[in-house]
Amino acid sequence: MVPRPFRLLSKRHDTHDTVTLELEPTDGVPLAFKAGQFTMLHAFGIGEVPISISGSPVVEGPLVHTIRNVGGVTRTLVEAEPGVEFGVRGPFGTSWDVSDGKGGDVVIITGGIGLAPLRPAILEVLAERDQYDRVTLLYGARTPDDILFGDELRRWADLNGIAVEVTVDSAAPGWKGRVGFVTQLISRVSFDPAHTLALVCGPEVMMRACVTELRQRGVPAGAMRLSMERSMKCGIGLCGHCQLRELFICVDGPVLTYERLAPLMQKWEL
Ligand SMILES: Cc1cc2nc3c(=O)[nH]c(=O)nc-3n(C[C@H](O)[C@H](O)[C@H](O)COP(=O)(O)OP(=O)(O)OC[C@H]3O[C@@H](n4cnc5c(N)ncnc54)[C@H](O)[C@@H]3O)c2cc1C
Ligand code: FES
Repeated sequence: MVPRPFRLLSKRHDTHDTVTLELEPTDGVPLAFKAGQFTMLHAFGIGEVPISISGSPVVEGPLVHTIRNVGGVTRTLVEAEPGVEFGVRGPFGTSWDVSDGKGGDVVIITGGIGLAPLRPAILEVLAERDQYDRVTLLYGARTPDDILFGDELRRWADLNGIAVEVTVDSAAPGWKGRVGFVTQLISRVSFDPAHTLALVCGPEVMMRACVTELRQRGVPAGAMRLSMERSMKCGIGLCGHCQLRELFICVDGPVLTYERLAPLMQKWEL
């Protein structure tokens, strides 16, 4: 429960409301993590929020978080300048375990800030790209200005043989890319449903629509992994804030198979 002090090394503005922060531990001991895990990030005197790690799990370096400014704590984190110290607890939670997809196809479907928790899984795949067959990333943003990691998306597609498809909900005249929901892309891409690992992260309404599409394509429930968000306080299974029926999302999740989540679908919005 005791946060470790980390110092803000650098800040990159990704979009009008989202930044990527690189943090270094003041004691010099790096924070090892698995793709999909999160930390409880503490702005001293303000509060603490769960934020997924968006850096590489296979290359040692600073702790990387990509944060959207939606309220009190995230505003403080987003507006901080290099040199400021934060507290970090964790890493917590389950991981994407993307290596389970080796030898088959991987389909990654995400919307909005959901690309940040999936970035470590993408980097893990890229580090051993030859171990996977077709790798597809489907990404939806609200507008072209909300697209995260634009340069990186192009680099992943150009250099590493990932099929990257981007769509936006709406765009001003002049946008040459796709307009429409990310779920509409699923029927357009090629993968072998019996040998596909699907990783999905985004708003719950989007994840539900993705699951429906993937099931129609024949992807088994156990091969679909979703990252869930719930309000969190302790992050370690003690307080019950994140409870979703029998699950504590902070320890049983955030990444769960659809097989495990399916019985909860009726109560999904609770
Ligand atoms: C496991 C996990 C991983 C997360 N990873 C990231 C990440 O990588 N990057 C990131 O920017 N955010 C992430 N979040 C969401 C982040 O924790 C919330 O945005 C944050 O807690 C909001 O706190 P606040 O004090 O800034 O805003 P508050 O003042 O608490 O809330 C401001 C507004 O945001 C809404 N809100 C609060 N929490 C959420 C939420 N979880 N999702 C959507 N709306 C919310 C509130 O209803 C309110 O309208 C993650 C959440 C979880 C559970
Ligand atoms: S956040 Fe306390 S039990 Fe999950």
